[in-house]
Amino acid sequence: MLSPETLSRDRGAPSTDDLLRWDREHVWHAFTQMQEYEPLLIEAGQGATLFDTAGNAYLDGSASMWCNVHGHRHPRLDAALRAQLDQVAHTTNLGLSNPTTVALARRLVEVAPAGLEKVFFTGDGSSAIEAALKMAFQYWLQVKPAEPPRTTFIAIGEAYHGDTLGAIGVGGVDRFTAMFAPLTFAAIRIASPGGPCPHTGRPAPSLAAALDTLDRTLTEHGGTVAALVMEPLVQAAGGVLVHPPGFLRGARELTAKHGVLLILDEVAVGFGRTGTLFACEHEGVTPDILCLAKGLTAGYLPMAATLTTAAIWNAFLGSHAERRTFFHGHTYGGNPLAAAVALESLNIFRDERVLETLPPKIERLREHVARLGTLDHVGDVRQCGLVAGLDLVADKPTRRAYPWQEQRGTHACLAARRHGAILRQLGDTVVLMPPLCITLDEIDRLAAATEAGIRDATRQ
Ligand SMILES: Cc1ncc(COP(=O)(O)O)c(C=O)c1O
Repeated sequence: MLSPETLSRDRGAPSTDDLLRWDREHVWHAFTQMQEYEPLLIEAGQGATLFDTAGNAYLDGSASMWCNVHGHRHPRLDAALRAQLDQVAHTTNLGLSNPTTVALARRLVEVAPAGLEKVFFTGDGSSAIEAALKMAFQYWLQVKPAEPPRTTFIAIGEAYHGDTLGAIGVGGVDRFTAMFAPLTFAAIRIASPGGPCPHTGRPAPSLAAALDTLDRTLTEHGGTVAALVMEPLVQAAGGVLVHPPGFLRGARELTAKHGVLLILDEVAVGFGRTGTLFACEHEGVTPDILCLAKGLTAGYLPMAATLTTAAIWNAFLGSHAERRTFFHGHTYGGNPLAAAVALESLNIFRDERVLETLPPKIERLREHVARLGTLDHVGDVRQCGLVAGLDLVADKPTRRAYPWQEQRGTHACLAARRHGAILRQLGDTVVLMPPLCITLDEIDRLAAATEAGIRDATRQ
């Protein structure tokens, strides 16, 4: 209960001190030990920079959790949102539609790999995955000619697909998922083709070995498997595990050979992160189902989309009495405000030729990552497009990890704040994932703040 005194203060503008205290008292932050939480209130943003309530500026080195694309307060995105507000903020897509949402679906089909023609809107990355899993499962129940039911999925070690129960069923980051195993289904897991893995120390397998493992798994289980689920090119939350070139193409060929669907999770890597609009374009792959979120709205509003083919859609058609409907949905799926900003984001990609601006930025980040990799307590470094991971290690020659309880990754990111950048760690891997709009000069400053943060956190 809030006290009367607090309520009366609440009528005026609360002070920063009040807000900091209320944040500690009332807000349960994601992936955060609240007993140790140190509040930081971000009040404003502009381009790749965020500002706290005291006016301190920070480069947004994690793109506000990997989703900001064109920068904060992009005038065109702000205007698109305001224009949609003048029409309607929300209507439902259960059985009716909205012009902005329809236009977005059409644009997504135009820019997505050829063959993905149907768009199912949800609210966030996890719900895009849930829709994909259920869609694939139900597809096999209804496909004609009839097939035996396929009741499982192949998933990749160290995969991250979100935190809802279905998503953790195909997730492979044990520290996020292991305790919930009794609540979800057991997927067939194959080792990640990426690496070296910062959690297990396992080196990356060769391309041939990774594809051989997948082939053997599909040969053994293919008839019971609805789909292979994977993040293409790089497993972001698994520790920025970069796959060997050719794995995605090979996985597409093998799933097609064994008659298993391919679900690609581009929640983290879609919308330019790897240098192309979608990561699967690098290897000319069209999945059967493509999951998008985060950058879909340029990081403005929650929205996700699960795209699929006419072949899968057709298996759901029939009269009501045939019970082939996809009985699945989320209240805010296709929300017009989110759709307006997503549509304008795609216009910006086109008009500002955003993808053409990326190669020099990716190269500049590569130079910094190589240099940061020479620091005494940085072990392996990995990069794919505009995402990079730097592993902090106690002993560089042997790659010996720090005791996890020391939270060196967390301390490096907190220290980087004092040097003007907001970063996010994955265990002891420091991740750099800035908005695509970041300038070369800002990349230099981001790297300098990262280096200073790492030095501070690994000094002894
Ligand atoms: C690859 C991938 N899939 C799914 C998700 C889950 O997305 P959300 O947090 O929007 O539910 C994430 C989130 O980081 C992700 O990186």
